[in-house]
Amino acid sequence: MSNKARALPVPRASEHTPLHARNVSFDWAGTPLHWLPGDPSTTHTINVLHLLLPAGERWFVHVYRQALPYIRDDALRADVIGFIGQEAIHSQAHDAVLPRLRELGLDPTPYTAQVDWMFEKLLGDRTLPPGRARRWWLLERVALIAAIEHYTAFLGEWVLGAEELDRRGADPVMMDLLRWHGAEEVEHRSVAFDLFMHLDGGYRRRVRTWAAAFAALFFTWQRGVRFFMENDPTLPNGKATFKEYVRGGREGVLPTFGAIARTVPQYLDRRYHPSQYGDTQQALDYLATSPAALAAEQRTAGRPARPEQHGES
Ligand SMILES: [Fe+2]
Ligand SMILES: [Fe+2]
Repeated sequence: MSNKARALPVPRASEHTPLHARNVSFDWAGTPLHWLPGDPSTTHTINVLHLLLPAGERWFVHVYRQALPYIRDDALRADVIGFIGQEAIHSQAHDAVLPRLRELGLDPTPYTAQVDWMFEKLLGDRTLPPGRARRWWLLERVALIAAIEHYTAFLGEWVLGAEELDRRGADPVMMDLLRWHGAEEVEHRSVAFDLFMHLDGGYRRRVRTWAAAFAALFFTWQRGVRFFMENDPTLPNGKATFKEYVRGGREGVLPTFGAIARTVPQYLDRRYHPSQYGDTQQALDYLATSPAALAAEQRTAGRPARPEQHGES
């Protein structure tokens, strides 16, 4: 075989599932500030999701609506429309946690204002002339979303199996939010990559946007944890530390650095396809028992349903 032959992604067709949005809602009235009891560092490390995802996933939806007219494959278009529906609800569901944090004395507005700026201005639409420049900027953002979705799928798979959080008494409503979202991330994990490959697929663009996404995620995440720890009203000298993160990974309440490091060669492998990682059946099994997803299904079917409550069995 010629060494010039291109290695291509190898999708696993068995991992594909038709996508639909589940219109969930959560009742936060009983969720404590440290929803993982006695572990503010891990609580706030995971809480950064509520800072980044409302603006981030709104931005996914905004960019994908612009990409829709360029899709020349009906099955992919249906996947992208399903993806848009799911991400719109993810964004709203995480946004709904923020008023509860304010009630508990932790106002996230100074940080979320910066995140909003990043997605709406830095990564937003630019005044570019129609044609090549505008298309280039759309493709850059489509590739960035594919790289970010590699990490949302990784986190989704991780949280579905993170039983140590349950053993330590993590708040059941927060766990359902994280696992419902994580399961849908696993369920739709191939869509962003398939769209990127369909519209462009250039390997240099894949590497460049992965590096940008990875650096931005690392930077914004550690700043978010610092923000929460320093502004938590119950922690007069709260500080985010590297040591605490390592401890969380070792104890199974956060992903380990080793697991995060393994995501890099995965994504940069020319034969990578998201369907090679994660387990759609595991995600669907969770969604079949998720209190929020079940309540959403009942609402969709027209039956009265209450939002998930604390203390219900
Ligand atoms: Fe999402
Ligand atoms: Fe996603």
